[in-house]
Amino acid sequence: MVQKITQSLTGKRIVLGIGGGIAAYKCADLTRRLIERGADVRVVMTHAAKEFITPLTMQAVSGHPVADSLLDPAAEASMGHIEIAKWADLVVLAPATADLMARVTAGMGNDLLTTLCLATDATVAIAPAMNQQMYRAVATQENLVTLKRRGYPIWGPASGEQACGDVGPGRMLEPMQLVALVEEHFSEGDLAGTSMLITAGPTREAIDPVRYLTNQSSGKMGYAIAQAAAKRGAKVTLISGPVNLSTPANVARIDVESAEDMHQAVQAHAALHQIFIACAAVADFRPAHIADQKMKKKDGHDEMTISLVKNPDIVASVAAMTANRPFTVGFAAETQDVEQYARGKLAKKNLDLICANDVSCDGQGFNSDQNALHLYWPAGDKPLPLASKADIGNQLVSEIATLFNASK
Ligand code: C5P
Repeated sequence: MVQKITQSLTGKRIVLGIGGGIAAYKCADLTRRLIERGADVRVVMTHAAKEFITPLTMQAVSGHPVADSLLDPAAEASMGHIEIAKWADLVVLAPATADLMARVTAGMGNDLLTTLCLATDATVAIAPAMNQQMYRAVATQENLVTLKRRGYPIWGPASGEQACGDVGPGRMLEPMQLVALVEEHFSEGDLAGTSMLITAGPTREAIDPVRYLTNQSSGKMGYAIAQAAAKRGAKVTLISGPVNLSTPANVARIDVESAEDMHQAVQAHAALHQIFIACAAVADFRPAHIADQKMKKKDGHDEMTISLVKNPDIVASVAAMTANRPFTVGFAAETQDVEQYARGKLAKKNLDLICANDVSCDGQGFNSDQNALHLYWPAGDKPLPLASKADIGNQLVSEIATLFNASK
């Protein structure tokens, strides 16, 4: 029986960037599997990659000449490096060796492949493959953290027996696992066509050059919502206060510090999004004056007064927009009379939905990895019982999408 292969990648333009690792031999199969599903694949190889698999093989399976040199006039004349960068819908670096990842992290453009990574606005997905000790090396791990923070999808590696005889993490994912990730990357998702602007994390209100006021917030809930929405195909912009979290894949992140910075960024983007979710723990007040120099203790002064002025209420300012007002969702972290306070804020701030968070309960809220919410909107309410923030993020995105669609 001949199995019919779904044309899930029809018309998708994929650059396969091959690094110099033994897993490169799997790239011929990977290319075939992508093409079978309708993708148009162009192969770019590093100098070292050609020691592991020949350009001729890759040309034969991809049906196109292999690009490998930045300075080859003939290649540049047929499809120059900027042209390939613009052509791509997705770049997959497989195998991404420790060296290739280091060069991408450093922003180098010392060969065709790294130059292309700099010049493309397509997603660059990275499938690491290397010896387990090289993978565990601090430099490699730090590069991975940086790449994740910048929003590069990291696909793998798998753990197991390695070509060199070692056992451990560093095996490239199998071609069919990579194909599944490529398909997932391009899958429309039920939120394709929906745009969301999300604030997350705390704000920092400077007192002097070294001190600030802030709020308890890890940013995990807002990041989980952004991740859930982006995974389901929404266009997501995340305006983030200072947090220690990686940017979820396919999320555009704007970093801010103070409530005023966050307010400005939100004002600039709110009308361009259909849904606004204010998950940030915004400081309600900021010092009236920021001292130019570090404030000094003075002998004989055991008290100090800092005057505070009110920050703008960001979510209320969005809810008050008269043109292109997005569907507006707020959060309410409460320690008592949760429903009463939440419904009060829903009405006072003119929100479409409020997500109440009982932060007096152990194991949920602020720095926890779990959360429970109770949603209130003018015509109803719904509890989302204790679950991981990833789960709650996903459920919340579903509820928001349903209410948003009903409001149209
Ligand atoms: O009034 P309260 O701070 O409890 O309201 C919480 C909600 O309002 C959250 O959604 C929070 O992100 C938002 N908020 C804001 N700007 C402020 C204060 C709170 O957007 N200055």
